[in-house]
Amino acid sequence: MQHDIKDISLAAEGKKRIAWAERDMPVLRQVKEKFERAKPLAGLKMSACLHVTCETANLIRTLKAGGADIVLCASNPLSTQDDVAASLVQDYQIPVLARKGEDRATFFQHIKAAIAHSPQITMDDGADLISVIHKDNPEMCRQVLGSTEETTTGVIRLRAMAKDGALKIPIVAVNDAKTKNLFDNRYGTGQSTLDGIIRATDMLIAGKNVVCAGYGWCGRGFALRARGLGASVIVTEVDAVKALEAAMDGFRVMPMREAAKIGDLFCTLTGDINVIDCEHFAVMKDGAVVCNSGHFDVEINIKALREMASEVKKNARNFVDEYVINGKRIYLLAEGRLVNLAAAEGHPASVMDMSFSTQALAAEWVVKNKGKLQPQVYDIPSEIENYVADLKLKSMGIGIDELTAEQKKYLESWQEGT
Ligand SMILES: NC(=O)c1ccc[n+]([C@@H]2O[C@H](COP(=O)([O-])OP(=O)(O)OC[C@H]3O[C@@H](n4cnc5c(N)ncnc54)[C@H](O)[C@@H]3O)[C@@H](O)[C@H]2O)c1
Repeated sequence: MQHDIKDISLAAEGKKRIAWAERDMPVLRQVKEKFERAKPLAGLKMSACLHVTCETANLIRTLKAGGADIVLCASNPLSTQDDVAASLVQDYQIPVLARKGEDRATFFQHIKAAIAHSPQITMDDGADLISVIHKDNPEMCRQVLGSTEETTTGVIRLRAMAKDGALKIPIVAVNDAKTKNLFDNRYGTGQSTLDGIIRATDMLIAGKNVVCAGYGWCGRGFALRARGLGASVIVTEVDAVKALEAAMDGFRVMPMREAAKIGDLFCTLTGDINVIDCEHFAVMKDGAVVCNSGHFDVEINIKALREMASEVKKNARNFVDEYVINGKRIYLLAEGRLVNLAAAEGHPASVMDMSFSTQALAAEWVVKNKGKLQPQVYDIPSEIENYVADLKLKSMGIGIDELTAEQKKYLESWQEGT
């Protein structure tokens, strides 16, 4: 199959970075060894639509080791690491369709090419492959044994499709595994979002009012890390329980219209639309920095920002656009796309180790359950979660206690202990 990447001569650098990431992915290495022996995906065609990063490269190599005939396309136009794409093509003979900065038309052409591979298993990060298959290639739904979904926004979309009776393919919600969102969304997004902001702006976080929109898994991680760097963190929420949790975690909680007046740095992590809108831009301070780390570039109303601005300076610095509103400058990072993947390298390998081991094992589970799965959204089986958590703990040199027979009986019984 044809590939479409930016520059094959970047392969040597990509290969080094893939190896560097692999070093920090001990669980995935063990899954790969298991796959090499058992070949659970032998003879199967797979299409994956994921952020093309060095961690993803190691997942794709694992799936290939399991026997899959796999192609990879980008799940976001700005998150592709071109050197990694080049190495996957040159060193690992994996067709990749992804160029950093590709336009919308190319992005969808790449998705269509991945679908033309005629997959029996698909992998998504944001449900784009599955959406396009349902819309443009509905006949293909019959051949797809199952699909896995990496992110919160994708799972929300797919559950909505299932509820409407529109879903025609079984889905495994990898995002909802504890071995995924408790670690990847919280610690991965928390750290890498700040990394992206700092690389894009070189700003000092200490002493700043940092506004965190959304206190879900990603928001909790971001708020905690921003506080760790010395920021005064403000949380905005729409869920009363989460808002209460943020307040009791020691953060200031207020509506965005109030936070907008005092924030120095704003980051949206909600999966929602227009969380920062006209009324907020209108009252922001001169020099406010605005970015998003949620899946889609809809959390900040960029169209409104453009319309309100009397002047726009694109690329005031790499990944920074300057908008002037009423004489005040507002800086938008990475065009409102996920700032951690666009301006930095995404999540560290050590945390993706768990997410991608869960992904690979979910694909194996789909094959093992061929013919038995319904078009609905399945949770990751607890055996997979426990297997991944157990291997990760061992790789960290951490041992834990085991229940004694007496404790097990006590915990399962309602007659004892009162
Ligand atoms: N940047 C990354 O690498 C990365 C990694 C994982 C997930 N994500 C994406 O980040 C987003 C958040 O994921 P999550 O796992 O934290 O989801 P989550 O459901 O745990 O949390 C989202 C939170 O946002 C809140 N929210 C919704 N609308 C809001 C609004 N208008 N104002 C304030 N708060 C609002 C919700 O109440 C919820 O608490 C999703 O789009 C997800 O796909 C990004």
